[in-house]
Amino acid sequence: MRYETRVEKIDEDLIKGEKLAELKEHQAIRLGARLLRQGEVVAFPTETVYGLGADATSNKAVGKIFKAKGRPQDNPLIVHIATKDQLEQVIEGGLTPAGRRLIEAFWPGPLTIILNKSELISVTTTAGLTSVAIRMPSHPVARALIAASSLPIAAPSANLSGAPSPTLAEHVLNDLKGKIPLIIDGGPARVGVESTVVDVRKDIPVILRPGGVSREEIEETLGFEVRVAGGQEVAEGVPPSPGMKYRHYSPRTPLILLEEKERDKIAEMTEEYSNKRIGLVITAETLQELNNLPENVLVVRMGSRSRPEEIASNLFALLRRLDQRNLDLILIEAIPEKGIGAAVMNRLYKASTRE
Ligand code: TXA
Ligand code: MG
Repeated sequence: MRYETRVEKIDEDLIKGEKLAELKEHQAIRLGARLLRQGEVVAFPTETVYGLGADATSNKAVGKIFKAKGRPQDNPLIVHIATKDQLEQVIEGGLTPAGRRLIEAFWPGPLTIILNKSELISVTTTAGLTSVAIRMPSHPVARALIAASSLPIAAPSANLSGAPSPTLAEHVLNDLKGKIPLIIDGGPARVGVESTVVDVRKDIPVILRPGGVSREEIEETLGFEVRVAGGQEVAEGVPPSPGMKYRHYSPRTPLILLEEKERDKIAEMTEEYSNKRIGLVITAETLQELNNLPENVLVVRMGSRSRPEEIASNLFALLRRLDQRNLDLILIEAIPEKGIGAAVMNRLYKASTRE
């Protein structure tokens, strides 16, 4: 099915003022809610990245998300809700004390929790799993749209599968033009990396995907240490979050991550690739220490190492821009894995071509 993709922009004042009641009456959101109720897909802004939503209770509607994105069928989707009360509809059983504390601290916001699914949620949404991922986004447009539709909304990031997630409506249009009927433009996504996915089914939560809420913030809220999925699950041959096994967030241009210990070898490395057009993405601190790079190198600043929030916020837009510069290679500097820096590095490892 081909669509004439409409892009409807929402006024900044309405978003900044968090005018939920007015937003629900906005013609773009009414149109979006109507399409969702008819079983169509709609792209909308969240505070992390843009999402591609559909009715999470309908196999047929959710099937259209997988089709538009070219997403593998075994990768489950996150269900988005507008209020904490809506949680009851989508899960079976209750919350652990840790789960409750986490949603009290971080909802609405960039935290996704894993619980047992209710009958209401379609098996296509969870890719056949008995668990479901749930998040209550804080972006006023997302909340108004979900509330206006009166549905739980399944929504992955609104990019073509494998590409960097979209942080602007324009990114969604570039990837999905003709494949979806509507994009609601709510300006740039503030956080810039996706939500943190946490399994809260056991007493000690496990972080399955680092994201907008940091491990440090989670541990501070709970008062104890959590586990980050990886070693153990991989050794047992089960990826804890099905999405973790796919290559992701990748620009088409090959990307090499520069480890901290390689920082003083940047000049050497660019010489090694002297017959290639190189995009060198570095922090403000490293830029200060560099002098005269050869002409084949395009230097791009990614912000200061001391402000990982800023780096996260610009990351995907930067990768998309670099892809349009006809480069042979992108060299990108590693940043400390502290706070949201851990989510940035997780995305860069997945985008990089070097094992
Ligand atoms: O910030 C976000 O989370 C964005 C916005 C749109 O809300 N959404 C997003 O969705 O990043 P997506 O589909 O790109 O990533 C969902 C991740 C995948 O890694 C998937 O495997 C994991 O969540 N996931 C979903 N359901 C799961 C489940 N039942 N158990 C374990 N992992 C699950
Ligand atoms: Mg995604």
